[in-house]
Amino acid sequence: MKMNIKQLLEQKSIGTQATISAWVRTKRQSKNVAFINLNDGSTIHNLQVVAETIEEAILAKINTGACIKVEGNIVESSGQQAIELNAEKITILGEADPEKYPLQPKKHSLEFLREIAHLRPRTQTFSAIFRIRHALAFAIHQYFNDNGFFYLHTPIITASDAEGAGEMFRVTTLDLNKLPKDENNNINYKEDFFGKETNLTVSGQLEGELGAMALSKIYTFGPTFRAENSNTSRHLAEFWMIEPEVAFYELEDNMALAEDFLKYVIAYALKNCKDDLEFLEKRLLEEEKSKPQNERSELALLDKLNFVVSNDFEKLTYTNAVEILKNAKKKFQYPVDWGTDLQSEHERYLVEKHFQKPVILTDYPTEIKAFYMKQSEDGKTVRAMDVLFPGIGEIIGGSQREDNFEKLKNRAAQVGIHAEQIWWYLETRQFGACPHAGFGLGFERLVLFVTGMTNIRDVIPFPRTPKSAEF
Ligand code: 4AD
Ligand code: MG
Repeated sequence: MKMNIKQLLEQKSIGTQATISAWVRTKRQSKNVAFINLNDGSTIHNLQVVAETIEEAILAKINTGACIKVEGNIVESSGQQAIELNAEKITILGEADPEKYPLQPKKHSLEFLREIAHLRPRTQTFSAIFRIRHALAFAIHQYFNDNGFFYLHTPIITASDAEGAGEMFRVTTLDLNKLPKDENNNINYKEDFFGKETNLTVSGQLEGELGAMALSKIYTFGPTFRAENSNTSRHLAEFWMIEPEVAFYELEDNMALAEDFLKYVIAYALKNCKDDLEFLEKRLLEEEKSKPQNERSELALLDKLNFVVSNDFEKLTYTNAVEILKNAKKKFQYPVDWGTDLQSEHERYLVEKHFQKPVILTDYPTEIKAFYMKQSEDGKTVRAMDVLFPGIGEIIGGSQREDNFEKLKNRAAQVGIHAEQIWWYLETRQFGACPHAGFGLGFERLVLFVTGMTNIRDVIPFPRTPKSAEF
């Protein structure tokens, strides 16, 4: 296999020959020598190339953004890295016109970089984010595999709306200009590709439950889609979700799983993404300097991550949280009353001001939660849980599931889901039903937390948001 810059910098084989292909970050040229900084995305660190004997015609084409192949000799360096590459031959693989290439070596705003999402992975910030994103995905599979969970692939095209929120993207092959109609002049979906109305999935949970009722411990990790028109820094129309589902788990087991799982993946990033996290921490500290004192975060990035890994999450009921919020001195934009859904400002008050640590809220009012959640004896609440994180708000949503056939069927009907639509889901409550529970982690919200970024559009390579699907 060809060597990359990460391997080269780690091996430090002074005196040996090496060939590296990478993109030019910067070039500094004096009369007899040029210093070229190269990066191939394998690490946050650049490789310095020293070019003393390379002809002028080649050097002229080595501009920021160009891709080059360097063959040369590894020598000791007095610069940032222990070694540098003394170029003997340079081949230009792809030029980049300095008049046109938008990523010149200077500070660019995140907003500008979103407009050039096809090039932003070449910046230090975004390459660090995407390496961390990879590491987190890997750690998630590692965690579940080590704990006896099976990775279940649930469908992306479905006929059901698991969350019942009606925020779905339709999937159809019908000609929108010539829609087939039935005798009542409604659209005849029998003529559509699947013979019924279908949409992109909002969650793999319902099918995940079917898996758990056979394999006991499963998880999904796939794309999910929500057509909610909320243009916030926490919402995407296409995002990735991790959904474990476990037979014989009750709410308390589910909470323990969520806490252990989150701590594991964050600890994994701390251990395996040190250079990238240190880079992002420095970047963040720089950015904070321009903010007013009271808006700066109290902990630097690595301290914040270590804090979450080494402290117990606070656990309390929705009812107790509402009491705390009602007694808070802070004036909220949205009023809080038992029965209303908590807004992000409430969640963040609990996490950032009141408890100053991650919080798991449980036992929400039935009315504000999905139909499948386990109904409590009190007749008012369900065995739901939301995990709330500093700077993020809700990172996980989950629950114990209603395993009583009658109760589940009635609740579904109350919210307008007909038994025929989910007959297969309901049947698991008739054939070998058992207590079970699960949750969904929003992957991008996890990446947001770990990287310390503040806009969800900056932690997925090509974000999908209202009116935006360019790349
Ligand atoms: O709370 P949600 O809607 O829960 C479910 O979908 C359940 N079926 C999960 C389960 O129990 N298996 O979504 C789960 C998580 C949220 O806590 C949030 O982190 C993330 O998914 N999420 C989003 N992330 C980005 N953009 C959006 N539009 C999101 N909507 C939810
Ligand atoms: Mg939720």
